[in-house]
Amino acid sequence: MANRGGFSSRIGFIMAAAGSAVGLGNIWKFPYEVGENGGAVFLLVYLICTVVICFPIMIGEIAIGRKAQKDAYGSYKSLGGRRWGLLGLFGILCGVMILSFYNVVAGWAFGYFLEISFGDLLNTADFKLFFGEYVGMIWDNLFFSVCFMIITAFIVVKGVSGGIERASKILMPMLFAILVGLIIYSLTLDNAMEGIKFYLLPDFSKLNLETIYSALGQAFFSLSLGMGALITYGSYIDKKQNIITSAAMISVMDVSVAFLAGLLIFPLVFSQGQAPTEGPGLVFVALPGVFNSMGPIIGKVVGGGFFLLLCFAALTSTISLLEVPVAYLVDTKKLPRKAVVWLLATLIFVVGLPSMLSQGAVDMFSSMSFYGGKSFLDFVSEVFSDISLPLGGCLMSIFIAYRWKTQSLSEEISSGNENYKGSFLEKVINLVIMYIAPILLGLIFINTVFSKFFGIEII
Ligand code: PHE
Repeated sequence: MANRGGFSSRIGFIMAAAGSAVGLGNIWKFPYEVGENGGAVFLLVYLICTVVICFPIMIGEIAIGRKAQKDAYGSYKSLGGRRWGLLGLFGILCGVMILSFYNVVAGWAFGYFLEISFGDLLNTADFKLFFGEYVGMIWDNLFFSVCFMIITAFIVVKGVSGGIERASKILMPMLFAILVGLIIYSLTLDNAMEGIKFYLLPDFSKLNLETIYSALGQAFFSLSLGMGALITYGSYIDKKQNIITSAAMISVMDVSVAFLAGLLIFPLVFSQGQAPTEGPGLVFVALPGVFNSMGPIIGKVVGGGFFLLLCFAALTSTISLLEVPVAYLVDTKKLPRKAVVWLLATLIFVVGLPSMLSQGAVDMFSSMSFYGGKSFLDFVSEVFSDISLPLGGCLMSIFIAYRWKTQSLSEEISSGNENYKGSFLEKVINLVIMYIAPILLGLIFINTVFSKFFGIEII
């Protein structure tokens, strides 16, 4: 393992994997998905998906990686043969595509940090208007997303221990603290309770297939599942680690940050009389208003601090996204790490350009007629994240159940957790992996593809 690098400690792995999980998915995507999909009912479905489906899948991914000690492609190939390697390649492709648009949004967060701390964003009269114009500005966005990709690449060149581990250990607790502080403040605002009601009191009439499919996609995206990130990170840990407790800690941290982000955003949205259905602009529109109300100096410090921490959260995720294809080319193709990192970073940046230009800068990408007038960014995010990640999880379950076998999974989990075999948890996990996940995820996948691309509702 020495020459592949590895996490130096159990807590190092947990923090890095939690760093991968906690990111824009929790603070940017989760609140607007909740807002667009009926509020509390989305939260409920999301929580059910996380516990019932995603938690066992996370355990499966980490176990596959640790058993094979290889990248996503190499792991599937060595445990299942060349054909299963294709599943690894599919995951790597998803990682590349997700990073391509993720980096663009990270660039917005970085820009907001600078504009709030050093510019006069907080004096803007209309934050919605500002955001709309901001994401359409080509040169600013180009600059910020180039910066973000360079920083990501720089850290990935250095390898998994050191940079990634150390930074996560300090920054994650800070993010947590600033979220809690802001929540307390936001709850004191007028109308805050309306937001809490929207977020926590489910209205079941809003439940539909779209809600379920979005919540499922969100759960996979937020936990970094379905594309091999945790196979890759799992390959860097040793046999003494307890996979179950590690996965539980990662999931709890991820869900808590998402939950807190919602608890912060909705009171703000309602107290400022905004609509929760704002879409991707939601946090960028709702948050500056509250920083503004804190007064010029405190607003700059707290607002700048918040967006800076958001950038760090995004960074630990972009690192893991880039690490997936890098590990593949280094492990399987035996290419030199440094060259691979810079090459991929450049390539992925270029792939992300249409997403960057799809927020008003270029009409062709901003409103695509073949995709219901949605933007290129929406298209990539829906295809490679909302649809493909649950599909990746479905195929991974099939792989474990019918190729690698659940006995091998139990064997791998037992190392580091002697009581696992024969336990109730083992039965539940096997049940999910063998039946629930393949059937449920398979059905949702088929239905989503038919309804999204052919307009046919099967269920
Ligand atoms: N989980 C990350 C987030 O919530 C995004 C991500 C997805 C990272 C897939 C790695 C793999 O921001």
